[in-house]
Amino acid sequence: MDSGKQLTGTLAFAVFTAALGSLQYGYSLGVINAPQKVIEKHYGRSLGVWTERTTVLPENSTEEEELPEVGDDPAVVIYWSLSVAIFSIGGMLSSFLVGFVGDLKGRVKGMLMVNVLAVAAGLLMGLCKMWKPHIMVISGRAVMGFYCGLTSGLVPMYIGEIAPKAYRGALGTLHQLAIVIGILISQVAGLDFLLGNDDMWPLLLGLSGAPAVLQTLLLPLCPESPRYLYILLGKEQEAQKSLCRLRGPYDTTSDLEEMRREKEEADKEPRILIFSLIRSSVYRQQLFVALMMHLSQQLSGINAIFYYSTAIFAQAGVSQPVYATIGVGVINTVFTMVSVALVDRAGRRNLTLIGLGGMCCCAITMTVGLALQNQFIWMTYVSMSAIFLFVSFFEIGPGPIPWFIVAELFSQGPRPAALALAGCCNWTSNFIIGMTFPYIQVWLGCYVFLLFAALLFCFTVFTYLRVPETKGKTFEEIAAVFHKGRKIPQQIPRDHSELQQLKTSTDA
Ligand code: GLC
Repeated sequence: MDSGKQLTGTLAFAVFTAALGSLQYGYSLGVINAPQKVIEKHYGRSLGVWTERTTVLPENSTEEEELPEVGDDPAVVIYWSLSVAIFSIGGMLSSFLVGFVGDLKGRVKGMLMVNVLAVAAGLLMGLCKMWKPHIMVISGRAVMGFYCGLTSGLVPMYIGEIAPKAYRGALGTLHQLAIVIGILISQVAGLDFLLGNDDMWPLLLGLSGAPAVLQTLLLPLCPESPRYLYILLGKEQEAQKSLCRLRGPYDTTSDLEEMRREKEEADKEPRILIFSLIRSSVYRQQLFVALMMHLSQQLSGINAIFYYSTAIFAQAGVSQPVYATIGVGVINTVFTMVSVALVDRAGRRNLTLIGLGGMCCCAITMTVGLALQNQFIWMTYVSMSAIFLFVSFFEIGPGPIPWFIVAELFSQGPRPAALALAGCCNWTSNFIIGMTFPYIQVWLGCYVFLLFAALLFCFTVFTYLRVPETKGKTFEEIAAVFHKGRKIPQQIPRDHSELQQLKTSTDA
């Protein structure tokens, strides 16, 4: 198959540059957990709660730790919860704009433009001691959430469009790999002897804007998505140039031909915006699969582990829960790398099935461990191993795959709107789990993970019945899977020689 050298330096550079946005997303997801107590103290001080309790203590007193928990104060609780939650609200709102921003000036310029938000957010948080820290942090988190909602759609869209078919899975998984590396960096940087302390925490939060600075310098060197250039703008020559930059000089005929047919399809119908996509019966099945995959990612309970792992480990009887949490981050990263290696061989469907099924078994084991830990001390190890395995199964499939499969399931016309809807579904369900998990935990006690086990079982069955394999297929072939019986699928040439054969037979 002649499709260029496929993995060139330029392609690697473009994917790396785009994934800096994902790194920033992961860092922002994880950064707020470790320094909670330290930040609450500063909120208390700026709200006046702290002064009331420390009137006799001199400035910078080290005895602060001995004092009553400032985090129990209702005003501090509200401002703290808002600092955590506003991030997801920002993301929920902006994920709707992914299509608009991506189509406005292109994928590369879109990612470039939104970096202004990340830098502004980083500055607001980094300089928060200069004014009221609680207001500055909340504003910074809101802007950062808004940025991340955009980047969590723009990055998979760009990578999905520039990746050669054979590596679309592996390169698409790099979005998730960058997210988990971002989470891990934030967990380590948040240790109290590094940046998670009284003096350095604004820097810890402010650093979340740093990858955007680097990305801004590198993006102008990245080729624009050939699919955007050809299908949206009709610039065939530029698309061809971009293809050659990404894959090395090669015969672009069959790639351009595929895009030409997609353009023809896209030109036949009016521009597909979010509401027309929801109403359209043509894309209903794809949309259902895409949304269910994002729901399964979030309703698997993964973020219950990420947001509350320290508390869960403490409940499971672990003596150093913070380090166990970092252990989760490491496992998370290692298994995402395994997925990068496997996804284009084992396929999306198989890995999702194994991942969801495995997570379901782990959730049951975790429950048994938690329920019996008072009778048998060794049950602590059972629950801990179950948590580590739960995360490993997540990263094998249900973590990375939903992010890039949406770009695979839809052709160019509806792709931006589909990514926007899937992103919104992801952010909303993430927000709901984050807000409700502590209450569900109080309600169900050690049986809380049985709820996720039941959901995981349903999602496994759904994947088995409804999710098609997209590995190694062109966008057209994937669309044909969903439209079986709706119209006769065109014969799709796989490479240049097949294309020539097809042309000859048509001419004859
Ligand atoms: C996925 C999820 C995110 C989660 C992360 C954990 O990216 O979208 O919510 O925190 O995986 O690795």
